[in-house]
Amino acid sequence: MAGSANLNVMIKTARAAGRQLAKDFREVEQLQVSRKGPGDFVSRADTAAEQLIREALMEARPTYGFLGEEGEETLGEDPTRRWVVDPLDGTTNFLHGMPHWAISIALEHKGQIVAGVIYDPAKDELFWAEKGQGAWMNESRLRVSARSRMADSVFATGLPYGPSKHLPTELQDLARLLPACAGVRRWGAAALDLAYVAAGRYDGFWERGLHAWDVAAGLIIVREAGGLAEPIDPSGNILEDGTILCANEAIFDQFAKVIRGG
Ligand code: IPD
Repeated sequence: MAGSANLNVMIKTARAAGRQLAKDFREVEQLQVSRKGPGDFVSRADTAAEQLIREALMEARPTYGFLGEEGEETLGEDPTRRWVVDPLDGTTNFLHGMPHWAISIALEHKGQIVAGVIYDPAKDELFWAEKGQGAWMNESRLRVSARSRMADSVFATGLPYGPSKHLPTELQDLARLLPACAGVRRWGAAALDLAYVAAGRYDGFWERGLHAWDVAAGLIIVREAGGLAEPIDPSGNILEDGTILCANEAIFDQFAKVIRGG
């Protein structure tokens, strides 16, 4: 399946960042780590990967804007297009030597995500989608799961860390959801959680307290794989509010009812 020129730039860039991060991952004990907040780490690997991605994308498309997790937003000459990038999603896993982290690159056009790439170098799994072209993992077409019973379904979430205002709500979600489903996982990389919903590995995912760069690429990959994604408060906006609720179509309403409070 051939993608557009923009998609090819995104894939090439994600793979280059993946090679650099994989090298850092092998020498993770030597990395300088600092804390952005309680439980929120940043390392030289995150900042160097963002620099590589920023330079590659800005060189390929000099007029586009750039929003990344680790730096100031760059406004482009073309105000309708910007890259939305998490250079290392799953930083805590990375720093603890756990091979579950990814690079996430999305392209936004007029406020809509039109292409997304999530690359997991440890497993060499490259998830990608473009608007109207379906979602893919390497060369295989992705499709969300078909499970329609809560009792058979496995969901993923991200648990808040540090003194988060979201903790009480998340604990209430879990108290309602756990007795109703087949399990809840918390693997610590929201971009991969979304990619796994698209691949039918999870039946759904929800989280609060995210940022646009955590979800932008995953959002289009889930939707192009046939999944539904909404903000937890349906009147909100996923990219601005930092909440997401997504699942296959068959389970979405039942799952949404539990997460939205009954
Ligand atoms: C984090 C991961 C984690 C999620 C956090 C994110 P980062 O991203 O996606 O799974 O629970 O909310 O901030 O900081 O590793 O890029």
